[in-house]
Amino acid sequence: MQFLGKEIPSPLTLASGILGISFSSLQRIIRDGAGMVTTKSLSLEPRIGHEGPIIAEFDGGLINSVGLTNPGIQDGLLEVEKFHKEFEGVSIVSVFGGNAAEFVRLAKAVNSSSADLLELNLSCPNVEDEFKRPFALMPEKITEIVSAVGAVSQIPVLAKLSPNAYDVAEMATLAEAAGADGITMINTLGHGMVIDAIARRPVLRNNFGGISGPCIKPLALKLIHDVYQKVDIPILGTGGVSNGLDAVEMMMAGASAVAIGSAVYERGLDVFRSTRLEMEAFMETHDYADYSDLIGLLEEN
Ligand SMILES: Cc1cc2nc3c(=O)[nH]c(=O)nc-3n(C[C@H](O)[C@H](O)[C@H](O)COP(=O)(O)O)c2cc1C
Repeated sequence: MQFLGKEIPSPLTLASGILGISFSSLQRIIRDGAGMVTTKSLSLEPRIGHEGPIIAEFDGGLINSVGLTNPGIQDGLLEVEKFHKEFEGVSIVSVFGGNAAEFVRLAKAVNSSSADLLELNLSCPNVEDEFKRPFALMPEKITEIVSAVGAVSQIPVLAKLSPNAYDVAEMATLAEAAGADGITMINTLGHGMVIDAIARRPVLRNNFGGISGPCIKPLALKLIHDVYQKVDIPILGTGGVSNGLDAVEMMMAGASAVAIGSAVYERGLDVFRSTRLEMEAFMETHDYADYSDLIGLLEEN
């Protein structure tokens, strides 16, 4: 099947922020049938991120306040080059800047590498103290950043949106109008909080964090469904997918490809292989010849 002009063996994708670029793990997920891998969001300078604990499990998913820890764009792109020397898969480089000018510098750097696709993380909830409200909640910022990046990028650009916007479909429409080639959604939900009752304190050192995993899947499906009605560009769906049926549902809601994040923590790297096999079993049973036959099939009651 194809995604943004790239041939991929399956719609399954590693979501941003889940694995560092470690060759053995990437090799394994590509071998197991993942079509694309997304890097951790890279910024111009390296970032240490927040003090731990930065991630906690609860009944229904994960909560994290990683704070965009990353080695910086220069070192991050060296890893992308190594990835392309070793593997066949498609790379999505995720970037995060503090303003449009920084996004443009990041986009230029990514364009001068062998990266296949560029994802703009407009929606991280964990750096509000530094960067204030995420750009994905501000219509004028979406337009400004996406059009500035679109003007310099030769490779396709995905805008990653937040489920926290009041009207996500409206934000997607603005991103499309500004020249985005695709939409990635959803980033983590919240902030939420998990509490240690004995300590009478939040479990995360940073108190609050973004929520991901199975509990956000119904929200992701609804928002992808809404956005699919409004835009013509492809959607990279993410949010709570942990098995083949979840991935099928997400494509029926309108996703053209599906990224898996939290389930890698829960089910290990094997989640890509099992999800692919479960999707194929579903398709065989229900007579779908190709993954792309599933896209947007949902009919409302
Ligand atoms: C530990 C952790 C770190 C993440 N870091 C990033 C990041 O750097 N950039 C980004 O765009 N999304 C990041 N995300 C969000 C995921 O890419 C994904 O959008 C979200 O977790 C929903 O998918 P899931 O329910 O499959 O995890 C992170 C999520 C987790 C759990």
